[in-house]
Amino acid sequence: MVKITVTLGKRSYPIAIASGLFGDPTAFVPLKTGDQAMLVTNQTLAPLYLDSLRVTLELSGVKVDQIILPDGEQYKSLVVLEQVFSALLEKSHGRDTTLIALGGGVIGDLTGFAAACYLRGVRFIQAPTTLLAQVDSSVGGKTAVNHPLGKNMIGAFYQPISVVIDLNCLQTLPMREFISGLAEVIKYGITLDFRFFVWLENNIDALLARDVTALSCCIRWCCELKADVVSTDEREENGRRALLNFGHTYGHAIEVKMGYGVWLHGEAIAVGMLMAAETARLLGCFAEADVERIRKLLSSARLPIHRPAEMTAGSYLTYMKRDKKVLVGERRLILPTAIGRAEIRSRISNDIVLTAIRACSKSS
Ligand code: NAD
Ligand code: GLY
Repeated sequence: MVKITVTLGKRSYPIAIASGLFGDPTAFVPLKTGDQAMLVTNQTLAPLYLDSLRVTLELSGVKVDQIILPDGEQYKSLVVLEQVFSALLEKSHGRDTTLIALGGGVIGDLTGFAAACYLRGVRFIQAPTTLLAQVDSSVGGKTAVNHPLGKNMIGAFYQPISVVIDLNCLQTLPMREFISGLAEVIKYGITLDFRFFVWLENNIDALLARDVTALSCCIRWCCELKADVVSTDEREENGRRALLNFGHTYGHAIEVKMGYGVWLHGEAIAVGMLMAAETARLLGCFAEADVERIRKLLSSARLPIHRPAEMTAGSYLTYMKRDKKVLVGERRLILPTAIGRAEIRSRISNDIVLTAIRACSKSS
């Protein structure tokens, strides 16, 4: 089993990575005999993993309740959050309960936020089942629900007590979802680690074939990068963690405008990263050859590289104004300066942004 630590003083926690962890009671330490837990999952995952995880926890003497939510980004909402609170209250869960998020980023973000709010804060464990959640959303304590006017607009920084990554889950993940997760994987290479980008260029086919050795190496690499970023900038205050939002300002505009769930998060982020790379190129701080290298890797990963035809370039600007990085009304974008390095930039004209968006059209 690979173990990585997110170092945050008293709130430090382990990330465990291996095949078969959902069947291993020791992976869920510190849960112990007599503890109460609420498994939160959705209708798709329940028939696949709920019973086996439940048995594993019960073998350790944990009293387990469960709530099965509807599946979809559109259910990452305040209304569904209330259902989780109702289930916890109906089953008399106290301050010593532990919520366990069994699912992708939607379940993880929502359960984490529920844990942050319930009785002013209870423990939670991330048991991520998508590639995206295993490499990104389960680590770092960003929890949230969506609002019709903006994505992840209501939430909290709230760290889990552990992250348990069972690599076996990825074998049942639909291909489109798997590919969507590759966008966040590629993001790490572009923003933080040139060596990882090159590794991805050389191993993308093995990843697409879900080769366990390649997956294990990739997930470990991403979790190490993320753990390091979170340990040095937990609350996105010194500019380091903000780099992980690369492509998200453009991508969130696609997700919200197209309707939650129509474009998957990673699909929108893939095009968003390309738009950000084009923006950097137009500003003269990023080489055209590197934009092409990113385009090629995204394309090899079978991610979209063209923006949705239904959206005008101008429509992005409205949504980009609601980005969480906006400070004193100023739009701030994460832009690459080389492959493996990025920075936050502000004062970028609408003209540049619109030209970059148009450069990602099918016809251009
Ligand atoms: P998701 O949670 O909707 O899961 C994708 C789909 O795959 C769902 O239908 C789900 O039921 C299904 N599924 C999940 N695991 C499966 C498995 N092992 N086998 C079969 N089906 C499976 O989507 P996602 O891509 O995991 O997460 C996207 C969400 O994550 C977005 O809401 C995004 O905002 C959020 N996110 C959060 C962070 C963060 O730091 N907190 C980072 C990135 C993304
Ligand atoms: N996914 C971006 C972050 O965790 O900061």
